[in-house]
Amino acid sequence: MEVKNQISLAEFNTFGLAVDAPLFTEVTSSLALQEVLKDPRFENALILGGGSNVLLLQHLSRPVIKISIPGIRIVEENDQAAIVSAGAGVVWHDLVMWSIVNNLGGIENLSLIPGLVGAAPIQNIGAYGVELSDVFYNAIAIGRKTGDSKIFKAEDCAFGYRDSVFKNELKDEYVITTLRLSLTKSNHKLHLEYGGISQTLDEMGVIAPTIDDVARAVIRIRSAKLPDPTKLGNAGSFFKNPIVLKSKATQMAEEFPSMPAYTIDKNFTKIPAGWLIEQTGFKGKVFGNVGMHKNQALVLVNYGAATGTELWEHAQRVMAAVLSKFDIELEPEVNLIN
Ligand code: FAD
Ligand code: EPU
Repeated sequence: MEVKNQISLAEFNTFGLAVDAPLFTEVTSSLALQEVLKDPRFENALILGGGSNVLLLQHLSRPVIKISIPGIRIVEENDQAAIVSAGAGVVWHDLVMWSIVNNLGGIENLSLIPGLVGAAPIQNIGAYGVELSDVFYNAIAIGRKTGDSKIFKAEDCAFGYRDSVFKNELKDEYVITTLRLSLTKSNHKLHLEYGGISQTLDEMGVIAPTIDDVARAVIRIRSAKLPDPTKLGNAGSFFKNPIVLKSKATQMAEEFPSMPAYTIDKNFTKIPAGWLIEQTGFKGKVFGNVGMHKNQALVLVNYGAATGTELWEHAQRVMAAVLSKFDIELEPEVNLIN
């Protein structure tokens, strides 16, 4: 096992924060991971994928294990469906593209989400009307304390909106090594109703969309809206969209008739945090090295030389403004790492 001392994580997090870690190693197989987990030097290590959903608050006092387990293959199939297995270190978007090339449907709406396969179940990634849980078959994970491997079925994962058992009861207990998805081989069910996909397909001149067309539409929408982390440090949506009582949303809609809102069920409504933040005046405003992006107020941006503390202080400033104006508490989506 190759172990590096005192390394900068600047290239390993999409905020681009130049935070150091005392020890760092990369694993390319489940066996190698089991070995590292036994090593006392790596007790309490931070598990890192693509670093696109973490805010590293300061230099770390704990080691880092970077997950780079490769491989994509079909493990089972019939005429209608295939179970695809992917290593936790596969780049998520590469898996989406591989699926499309192989005419496997189900994850095309999740095109261009940064990060690696192993992190996808942690917050149950989602976009454009589809969530990982819609196609999840199972995941293999290694217990950090026992070193044993365990298979998690969907019902073990408690998937919710940007949520799973791995963020709650089993936080820091397991490392995911393999993800298996159930994808369609024929009669693909397209999800076109969300976030301007149909309109974008029209603009592209597509009449009978394929999964490839849907992926291209999603890529087009996302590229226009979200800042590219290789150019401007960010971790996507910094906050979750808050879910409020329907009665509260109705009251707000009376005051703000143009407020966008999505019905969850008869009792609850989801309100876009980006809209709430925009109303507080923070959209596009720069505070030193940080700010909420000019095209998407939900995206906290590092304009160059920010520290983790500066970013977190700004996030708290925004949270306080939204609380004061709307009496709604925003909750970070990004994982805060000490
Ligand atoms: P990391 O940031 O490395 O890790 C995230 C968390 O998971 C950490 O707590 C880490 O310890 C843990 N973890 C990582 N790998 C493993 C593993 N193998 N086993 C156990 N724990 C692990 N998310 C969406 O859901 N939808 C979007 O549309 C979306 N758009 C984004 C757009 C941009 C521009 C950016 C920068 C981010 C976006 N995100 C989105 C957030 C992010 O891409 C996802 O959360 C992604 O799944 C994170 O993957 P990662 O490999 O970078 O995880
Ligand atoms: N809006 C504003 N002002 C803004 C931003 C958004 O008014 O500055 C309004 C938009 O006009 C729209 C609504 O808010 O009516 C929703 O905006 P958008 O479609 O951009 O999506 P979002 O709710 O801001 C969520 C996810 C994204 C995901 C997109 C598409 C969360 C926290 N974020 O964003 O996920 O890509 O929908 O499905 O649920 C991420 O998790 O990192 C992420 C980028």
